[in-house]
Amino acid sequence: MKPFLVTLSGRPSAQVPFWFMRQAGRYLPEYRSLRAKTGDFLTMCLTPELAREITLQPIRRFGMDAAILFADILLLPRALGQELAFKEGEGPVLGPLDVARLKPAIEAAAALAPVYEAVRQVRAELPAATALIGFAGAPWTVASYMVAGRGGHDFSAVRLRAMNDPSFPALIEKLVEATALYLIEQVKAGAEALQVFDTWAGVLSAEEFDRWVIAPTAAIVARVKAATNVPIIGFPKGAATRAMEFARATGVDAMGFDSATPMSWIARHVAPLVPVQGNLDPLLLIAGGAAMERGAMDILRHRGRLIFNLGHGIRPETPIAHVERLCGMIRA
Ligand code: CP3
Repeated sequence: MKPFLVTLSGRPSAQVPFWFMRQAGRYLPEYRSLRAKTGDFLTMCLTPELAREITLQPIRRFGMDAAILFADILLLPRALGQELAFKEGEGPVLGPLDVARLKPAIEAAAALAPVYEAVRQVRAELPAATALIGFAGAPWTVASYMVAGRGGHDFSAVRLRAMNDPSFPALIEKLVEATALYLIEQVKAGAEALQVFDTWAGVLSAEEFDRWVIAPTAAIVARVKAATNVPIIGFPKGAATRAMEFARATGVDAMGFDSATPMSWIARHVAPLVPVQGNLDPLLLIAGGAAMERGAMDILRHRGRLIFNLGHGIRPETPIAHVERLCGMIRA
C-alpha cells in the first residue's frame, strides 16, 4: 500500500509521508510559465491536460507521497451558477448570490466533469507509490466566499447573514449535497483520499461551529462514506480547541492542523483518535536555515500517526532550495 494511505489507515509507518498544501502553484517556475502562457487561472483548472500537468509538477521535482489535484474550492459555487473570476493580484471575485436560483446539486456536480477527467489523467501518470488527493471546500468556508463575494472579507457580515438570513441554512444544505456529489465523483475518477478545507472555521463561536462546521462536515462524510471507501482528512483551520469533538462527531479519518497548534499537543490529544497532518509554518519555509530546521524537527519528533505538511499553503515567494532542504529532512 502507498505510504500516505498506510498512515491514513491509522497504521504507523517508518517513513513520515508528506505533501504540502498549495504544492502546485506560483513558487514553481514551471507553474508560472504555464500560467503566463494560459493567462487565466480558471482555464487552467478546467482544462484537464493543464490541470494534470500542474498537479504533477511538484511530484516530479520533489517526489511527495501525495499529489493534490490542481483545482480550487470555488469551482463549486461557479458550477452552482454563481459567477466567478480570479483577478490578478485581487484573488477571487464572485457575482451576486441568489440562493433560490442556484442550480440543483446534481447539475453542479455534472458540470465539473473536466475536474474528474483531470483526476483520471493524473492517476494514469502518477508514480506507483504516490497517492492522489481530491478535495473540496467545506460548506462554511465556501459559503463565506459566496456571501462576501471576495476573499479577504469581513466575517462579521457573513456571520450576521448566517444569524439573520433565512436562506443561509438552505445555502449550507445545498453545499452539503453538491460537495458530497462532487467528492464522490472525484473518487470514482481515481482520487484515493479526500481533504475538506475549512479555512475559516476559526472565526466562529462555539455554537456556530457546531452548526456550520461540525454538522455539515458530518453530513458530507456520511454521504461520501455511503458511496465510496476512501479516507477523508478534515482541516478546520484555527479551531484546535474543538479538534477532539470534530474528529469524533464528523467521522473524518484524519485531521490537518495549522501552525498555531503545538504538535506535541496534537500528538498527545488528537493522534490517539485519528492520524494527524501538519503543521510547519509556511513562513519558516520562506525563512529557511536553522529556524526552518528546528520547526521541522519539532514536528518530525512525533512520527507515528503523522503526515508532514505545512500549517497552510506554500506562499509564492518560497525559495525552491528551502523546499528541497525540507524534503531532504523529512526523508532522512
Ligand atoms: O496545490 C494545491 O494545494 C492544489 C490546488 C488548490 C488551490 N486552491 C489552487 C490555487 C487548493 C487545494 C486550493 C484551495 C483553496 N482555494 C482554499 C482552501 C485552502 C486555503 O488556502 O485556505 C481557498 C480558501 C481557496 C480560494 C482561493 N483560490 C483564493 C482565496 C485564492 C487567491 C489567493 C491566492 O493564493 O492567489 C485562490 C487562487 C489559487 N488557488 C491559486 C492557486 C494555485 C493562485 C492562482 C494564480 O494566481 O495562479
